[in-house]
Amino acid sequence: MDFTDEERNGLYKAIHTRRDVRARFTPEPVPDTVLARILHAAHRAPSVGFSQPWNFILVRDRATRRRIRESFDAERERSSAMLEGERRSAYDSLKLEGIMESFVNVCVTYDPTRFGPFVIGRTSIPQTGVYSVCCAVQNLWLAARSEGVGVGWVSILSNDTIRECLRLPPHVEPVAYLCVGYVEEFAPKPDLEAAGWLPRTKLSSVVAFERWEGEPGAAWEPLRGALDGAD
Ligand SMILES: Cc1cc2nc3c(=O)[nH]c(=O)nc-3n(C[C@H](O)[C@H](O)[C@H](O)COP(=O)(O)O)c2cc1C
Repeated sequence: MDFTDEERNGLYKAIHTRRDVRARFTPEPVPDTVLARILHAAHRAPSVGFSQPWNFILVRDRATRRRIRESFDAERERSSAMLEGERRSAYDSLKLEGIMESFVNVCVTYDPTRFGPFVIGRTSIPQTGVYSVCCAVQNLWLAARSEGVGVGWVSILSNDTIRECLRLPPHVEPVAYLCVGYVEEFAPKPDLEAAGWLPRTKLSSVVAFERWEGEPGAAWEPLRGALDGAD
């Protein structure tokens, strides 16, 4: 065990207090040294066949961000039209992006040609390329949390607009559009949980033993008990 208790607790603290932040961004600039540390953490993510298929496009330009924000408005409207009644009003009342308010936007992309076409481990499951980019996003998100920097992932967007605004080459896929900046606070619960949109599932309801919906044999009982306690 080469982590001290304090170091381990620090990692778990980042994991348990990480939040998707859409509101309460402050205009305070994130220093370059901090941004660099956060990007370094992202770049240290695991990747299929060590392909490191990500790029990070930093966007401060307000005109570009406005165009992305317009795409959000259009996509949000489209999503809203899929709902009816109270669910629609609830959806419409949610704050779902901080594109203009955050200090910087970061688009994380996937390049399937990086070190390709043969990438160890990607030959059977091509999606592992995009999974790798998501690992980088999670590293970025956790590192940012430890720096007191908020991150909000916006997926209510048209990828075509992102491609065009950011001049992505045709073979590069946008994976995550992130709003990044200091925030007034990190809420104790996900906004969607606090708003009553969806509840957090119990850990014990998503862990199975030996097979899908497998009932635990006696050997698993202590772990099952510990999972229930962890909720
Ligand atoms: C792939 C992905 C896409 C997401 N897209 C959006 C989005 O468009 N708008 C938004 O407000 N939150 C978005 N989120 C944030 C989730 O709503 C949030 O992670 C979830 O409600 C749990 O809250 P927490 O991240 O604070 O724990 C996205 C998260 C992920 C992982």
